[in-house]
Amino acid sequence: MEGGQGPLRLNRLLSLAGITSRRKADELISSGRVRVNGKVVREPGFRAVWGRDKIHVDDREVPGPLERIYIMLNKPFGYICSMSDPLGRPLVTDLLDNVKQRVYPVGRLDFDTMGLLLFTNDGEWAYRLTHPRFKVPRTYKATVAGYMEDAAIELLRVGVRIPGAVRAKAKVTLLGRNERQTIIRITITQGISRQVRKMVEAVGYRVVHLIRTGFGTIALGDLKVGEYRYLETEEVNKMKKLIGMK
Ligand code: URA
Repeated sequence: MEGGQGPLRLNRLLSLAGITSRRKADELISSGRVRVNGKVVREPGFRAVWGRDKIHVDDREVPGPLERIYIMLNKPFGYICSMSDPLGRPLVTDLLDNVKQRVYPVGRLDFDTMGLLLFTNDGEWAYRLTHPRFKVPRTYKATVAGYMEDAAIELLRVGVRIPGAVRAKAKVTLLGRNERQTIIRITITQGISRQVRKMVEAVGYRVVHLIRTGFGTIALGDLKVGEYRYLETEEVNKMKKLIGMK
């Protein structure tokens, strides 16, 4: 995660680059086998910038950090969040047509859910965003069949029992309702599979349309369905702050 960010101790840099352990790196350094920008460095505490300084161990150049990329997609209905599908259904990664690097989705959205889906090749970022310990909020706009009674909405706020959670609760705002349908904004922090659908079922209703509009500090905004864009550094860093990476 430190790649590309400022000077690092040489032994740490060599271990992050996968060359060897930190202890063995100290040995390589003190035996004069490591060069930084052409000069032999024998101090293990010497600092260099990974990806900017040219570092060699014997005659082998140390590779730079993997370029980390962060993408948001507005997922259409009918795509699956998986890297392959035995049934040959369309994959969300099919939509990232000009992305050369291998990235994977951060968590999942159901086949029939639309909206904000993040992708990255940064394992730590993805791990923290999806681990329940970090309680990252995910916000959805849900269309529910029928007129949802206030008591049912209140139950969602207080918490309901669903498979995988003793008490799944949410922040809920009523956006509109009539006899035919109710629209709510619902924010959860657990990320259990099909959580919103299960919660709404637990209070006696059915979700007919679901869009994720926010994840952590990122909002879907006006990105069109099926389109993607790279996140700005500022957006990535704001999210990192939320999950304690900065
Ligand atoms: N909750 C659901 O029910 N489905 C999703 O895709 C995401 C959250």
